[in-house]
Amino acid sequence: MKADDRVGVLFVCLGNICRSPLAESVFRDLIREHGVEQHFDVDSAGTSGYHIGESPDSRTVETARARGVEVTGSSRKLDRDDFGRFDYIVAMDHENLAGVQALAERSDGSSKVMLLRDWDDLDRGAGVPDPYYGGPRGFDDVHDIVERSCEALLTHLLAEHDLA
Ligand code: 4NP
Repeated sequence: MKADDRVGVLFVCLGNICRSPLAESVFRDLIREHGVEQHFDVDSAGTSGYHIGESPDSRTVETARARGVEVTGSSRKLDRDDFGRFDYIVAMDHENLAGVQALAERSDGSSKVMLLRDWDDLDRGAGVPDPYYGGPRGFDDVHDIVERSCEALLTHLLAEHDLA
């Protein structure tokens, strides 16, 4: 059961150190810019426990900082309680989506589960590429995708929840 009537949005990737903490930070900045932060409860998590307790990846942090976005937080693993706490669980790629859906089947929450790029006009329904084993260019590409998709997701949520 949700504790209040804020719109809960949880971003999910594999490790919760690259893509989902970035999406969380970008989305937080956007809701602040729109003056609607009091209406949202935003967080991120990973489908794996590989990096529990770790800070966001330094490459993500540096790429974001160069664009004026501060990425903070500490990695945690998605758990069944998240399905009661968040209205929307937003997966970064299809593998994460499958992990979220598998856990959803074992929870009794009612979150809507989706891909972040369901909102990306340039490549709807694609995955956000995993930048972890790639070069710095990958982090720039991920940032562009996340920024574009979060803007469109927020536009949708503002309309859906009469906050526009
Ligand atoms: P993320 O990136 O899922 O965007 O946080 C990754 C982080 C760690 C690993 C893979 C992807 N890993 O294999 O440890």
